[in-house]
Amino acid sequence: MTQQADPAVRALYQNRRYPAMSHPLSDPAVTAVAAALGGLIPAHPADARIVEIGCASGHNLLPLARRWPASRFTGVDLAEGAIATARDLADAAGIRNVEFFAADLREFDPGPEPIDYIIAHGFFSWVPDEAKLALLEFCKRYLSPTGIATVSFNLHPGWTLRQPVIELVRQLLPVTGGDPVETLKLVGETLDPETPHGRMLGWIVEDMLAKGADILAFDDFGPVNDPCTFPAFLQLAAQAGLRWLGESDPAENLPSSLGGKSRAALNQLAGHPLHAQLAADFASARTFRSGVLCRSDAPVNGSNPGALLPAWSLRPGSRPAADESAASTALHAALKANAPGTIHAGDLLDSPTGHDTARVAEAILDGITGGSVRARVEPVVFDPRPPENPSLNPLALACARRSLPVVDIWHTPCAFPEAHYPILAAMDGTRTIADLSVLASAHAPDLAFAPWLAHLAERGFFA
Ligand SMILES: C[S@@+](CC[C@H](N)C(=O)[O-])C[C@H]1O[C@@H](n2cnc3c(N)ncnc32)[C@H](O)[C@@H]1O
Repeated sequence: MTQQADPAVRALYQNRRYPAMSHPLSDPAVTAVAAALGGLIPAHPADARIVEIGCASGHNLLPLARRWPASRFTGVDLAEGAIATARDLADAAGIRNVEFFAADLREFDPGPEPIDYIIAHGFFSWVPDEAKLALLEFCKRYLSPTGIATVSFNLHPGWTLRQPVIELVRQLLPVTGGDPVETLKLVGETLDPETPHGRMLGWIVEDMLAKGADILAFDDFGPVNDPCTFPAFLQLAAQAGLRWLGESDPAENLPSSLGGKSRAALNQLAGHPLHAQLAADFASARTFRSGVLCRSDAPVNGSNPGALLPAWSLRPGSRPAADESAASTALHAALKANAPGTIHAGDLLDSPTGHDTARVAEAILDGITGGSVRARVEPVVFDPRPPENPSLNPLALACARRSLPVVDIWHTPCAFPEAHYPILAAMDGTRTIADLSVLASAHAPDLAFAPWLAHLAERGFFA
């Protein structure tokens, strides 16, 4: 925990615009599954109240508000400039079910309707202690009895080796000209890759540089960057009256970066979940968690994932299936055949695949926790081919016309090179593919237009 001054945080976000991003792991269609696996059934996000704390320019909240017009959305951030951008985008896209407030969380009253989903991504570790505690108290006070909060934070011990690097860069700044990225590069050059120490720190410096100057200014070199251990976070949450349900990506309850040997060793701690988590954080050196919390008096264990499963929609995950059974093989073949869209789990369970329904259900649940299957509480079905007159939705078009990242159908942001924005900005349904191709040759002669357009279609940009 840190006691650094609030004015520095305020000044950073007032004076410098945080990069516009959406965060797939905070998508309620995904976190509702994580909550159910943890034993709690939240409201369906299509009819819910959803509040984001530290929403910046609304890039995370606006696509959700567009997706679920019957839900009520509120975004809060103390940076007035970012809130002005969020309101402008909402107006331009005709999104009316969202309100944005330029306010300090500590003084913000969200009104009487209980909240079903609170999102606080990139907030907890970057604000002083008082604001950290205010966030947890806000969640406890305003969540509905089955509401969930998705809170991300920077994690120890993963950050332990990074902090001396950050400290050294800060100390060198007065003699290196004051640019943290250039100074970080210099520190990297001083390391000898022939030594274990140099290799280890060299990897850390590289990993930091890969974030880019825009993120480093807020993250590693932000005025507050305050990682904590998982037990320390759980303790603060418990003191505030909150309970941990699991990682928002169920495949990260055991870090996906860990190989089979580490997983097998961690199995020895299976009877001690908290200790197993501690050892897993240590073994993976992960630096970040995004967890799902609920009120400690929530009706947890009210859900049976097996019973909820038929309502979920599935697509392939990023990891290969660990289970090589016939049911698992059939499941993964069906998911692949349906990609990039989702398949309804109920259809898989009902269809006469020749596999025992219980085995298929088990393969699905194993796939979700193992990372070979991604689940959400609603389907995503779209034509992955470019339409004759490509048309972005009004929000995507408003973003493209402002050279901001555009969010795809999976809630993943996509930032484009500057030269691509005029082409995207022209995708309002009035031009054919041939017209756009001419425009592309003029603005971005090096762009392979047809594959680029096909890629956009596969990401659901024209859905
Ligand atoms: C690291 S940025 C994260 C932005 C966004 N959630 C994301 O992850 O892309 C943190 C945000 O929290 C906001 N913030 C910091 N302290 C705050 C407070 N006390 N009340 C409301 N917002 C705050 C900042 O203005 C900033 O936009």
